[in-house]
Amino acid sequence: MTNILCIGAGYVGGSTMPVFASHCPEDRFVVVDINEARIEAWQSDQLPIYEPGLEEIVRQTRGKNLFFSTEINRNIAEADIIFVSVNTPTKTFGQGAGRAADLQYWEKTARQILENSSSSKIVVEKSTLPVRTAEAMERILNSNGSGLHFDILSNPEFLAEGTAIRDMQNPDRVLIGGRETESGRKAVEKLVGLYASWVPRDRIITTNLWSSELSKLVANAFLAQRISSINSISALCEKTEANISEVANAIGRDDRIGRRFLQASVGFGGSCFRKDILNLVYLSEHYGLPEVARYWEQVVLMNDYQEARFASNMVASMFNTVAGKRIALFGAAFKANTSDTRESPALAVCRALIEERADLVLTDPHALDNACDDLKDLGGRITYEIDPYAACKNAHAIAILTEWPQYAQLDYEKIYQSMVKPAFIFDGRNLLDHKKLYDLGFNVYPIGKPPLTRLVSMG
Ligand SMILES: NC(=O)c1ccc[n+]([C@@H]2O[C@H](COP(=O)([O-])OP(=O)(O)OC[C@H]3O[C@@H](n4cnc5c(N)ncnc54)[C@H](O)[C@@H]3O)[C@@H](O)[C@H]2O)c1
Repeated sequence: MTNILCIGAGYVGGSTMPVFASHCPEDRFVVVDINEARIEAWQSDQLPIYEPGLEEIVRQTRGKNLFFSTEINRNIAEADIIFVSVNTPTKTFGQGAGRAADLQYWEKTARQILENSSSSKIVVEKSTLPVRTAEAMERILNSNGSGLHFDILSNPEFLAEGTAIRDMQNPDRVLIGGRETESGRKAVEKLVGLYASWVPRDRIITTNLWSSELSKLVANAFLAQRISSINSISALCEKTEANISEVANAIGRDDRIGRRFLQASVGFGGSCFRKDILNLVYLSEHYGLPEVARYWEQVVLMNDYQEARFASNMVASMFNTVAGKRIALFGAAFKANTSDTRESPALAVCRALIEERADLVLTDPHALDNACDDLKDLGGRITYEIDPYAACKNAHAIAILTEWPQYAQLDYEKIYQSMVKPAFIFDGRNLLDHKKLYDLGFNVYPIGKPPLTRLVSMG
């Protein structure tokens, strides 16, 4: 039996370890966190995050070979392998503020591992980290003077929220970076062995440490770049009567481009894209590559532009004022099938409309608690409503901000009847049947397509 510890019971720790536990019944998995409420939630029926399939797998493994605990020190002492999946947010202070990764949680964890270890261990970077972080970790951990040896591996997590369990069960690839030393190679083989319990061996890639660390940042940068690229073209479509869906289809049919991630929208969100690209920007600057830094920074700037453009289009289309107008916002989560609202474009649109003194009602099937927490500084200026029909009552407009499939199934005739006229729909995800809505009487504003409206724009 191998004792495996995961430090950090967030989205990554909390959704990966149950999958490991289900495929490695001989091994023992413990997930620890400093956040007691979070650990309590992991031990209860109300898990702290929503992910399709997660509840079931936690129920199967918890109490058998999967445990959640706040006893970090004791569990470090007992572990053979330690995954570290603590948060690595963008630094908000000092050198590199607003760009560099804040590594304080990581470093604290490394020191805690050192203080509580009486045997050699494998430490696995699961958090997303700047390239060459493992070097600093090696220095801290192997400066112990007690003969203990720590092998550091990089095993970045590629799961996507909303499909985390499916991605973990059936990954495109698993990436493991390690040192080219004898003990480094053994450590890599040990981790390969764990994954090989369910992942075909040819999908497990092993590389050097720095390639592995950098690949995670680059994967997110490339994914976000595709979204910003198609969003930039959506702005051009709106000026030229080209249609972004037709353009995306026409270019996506080229195998070299591919169809996926070409859906224009109000913007990308999530805890990772923005922070990882800014981290890449910072690293490029740090290594004296300003042209590389500017290239990637533009991906983030384009996303800010798309969010701002969406909100200002709403104001322009609604006769240049939304002050005092009730607007129903559909979706707070940064994408469908998650309760996560971190960096959600919905929040940026909320804030922009509040600046314009709109009277907002926000609805979401799973993310209202998180949204309420994120927007608490706005006090009573937003109403939270779980029922989308109630949210629309007496509203002037609806904005679709998350692509929850249930929003495509609503009775829009009933909704139209309950709204103030002229009624507007701004579809920030191009989710709805626009022609049908127009026929019902709505003025419809998609992304990257001509609006369907009976009004003359004053914008
Ligand atoms: N969320 C994703 O989809 C995703 C995907 C791939 C990679 N990542 C990366 O994985 C890492 C974790 O992301 P997350 O979304 O799970 O973050 P999260 O904020 O949901 O969870 C991190 C957890 O670590 C805990 N923590 C912080 N310091 C600690 C300490 N010293 N001891 C014990 N626990 C501690 C926090 O209390 C928190 O519960 C980040 O580096 C992120 O970039 C995230």
